[in-house]
Amino acid sequence: MNLPTHVGIIMDGNRRAGEESFGGRLLGHREGVETALTIVRATQARQIPYLTLFAFSTENWKRSEVEVTLLMELFREFFDQHVEAFMRDHIAVRCIGRRDRLPADIVERIVSIEQRSPQSATLQVQIAIDYGGRDELVRAFNKVREHATIDEAAISVALDTAGVPDPDLIIRTGGEHRLSGFLLWQAAYAELYISDVLWPHFSEAEYGNALTWYGERERRHGK
Ligand code: IPE
Ligand code: IPE
Ligand code: MG
Repeated sequence: MNLPTHVGIIMDGNRRAGEESFGGRLLGHREGVETALTIVRATQARQIPYLTLFAFSTENWKRSEVEVTLLMELFREFFDQHVEAFMRDHIAVRCIGRRDRLPADIVERIVSIEQRSPQSATLQVQIAIDYGGRDELVRAFNKVREHATIDEAAISVALDTAGVPDPDLIIRTGGEHRLSGFLLWQAAYAELYISDVLWPHFSEAEYGNALTWYGERERRHGK
């Protein structure tokens, strides 16, 4: 089967799942972390080398203080409890997005994880936190504006995703047909798979459906 090199996932539907199945809207977020762990492992098992997970957008700060605080706590727990095992298993972790608005202790965790991540990883996971594609582009344009000529390659290397190939497949769970700012530049030729399954219920089997669907696409790249 023709597999993608890079899968991006917009992990949407936590609160709807929380309300429906876990006894409260916000309780869906913790279940969503479990799904993320499952999908990281499934990605490595399928020998896909790059995975980007959209975890918190530049707009998600507009949510209630209670919800934002919970999400930050889940990031702490995720970094503290799971990332060591990733490293041992040759999975590198990098975070994309802004750092200037995150709690300082989370930024410290991110910096430490990126420094300790294995060089010879079989899977690189990018976690998008306080990430927005427009915000990333604005920061990139500010980096390249002194250049004599600005071309696509110069912009690509100024992005947070520098060095990582563009996503071949973007999956959005939760049924909405929109990017919500995810990888706007990099998504130019990505195949888009919308799953109606809410993220906490997204399974390896549904991931397999998305990958099978991807394998059947004819990618013409304008040809
Ligand atoms: C995605 O699920 C997680 C984040 C955006 C942090 P939501 O929290 O958006 O859940 P729904 O889409 O409201 O169900
Ligand atoms: C997109 O989900 C962001 C993440 C999955 C982190 P949202 O729930 O924030 O997006 P909208 O509001 O439906 O566009
Ligand atoms: Mg949502």
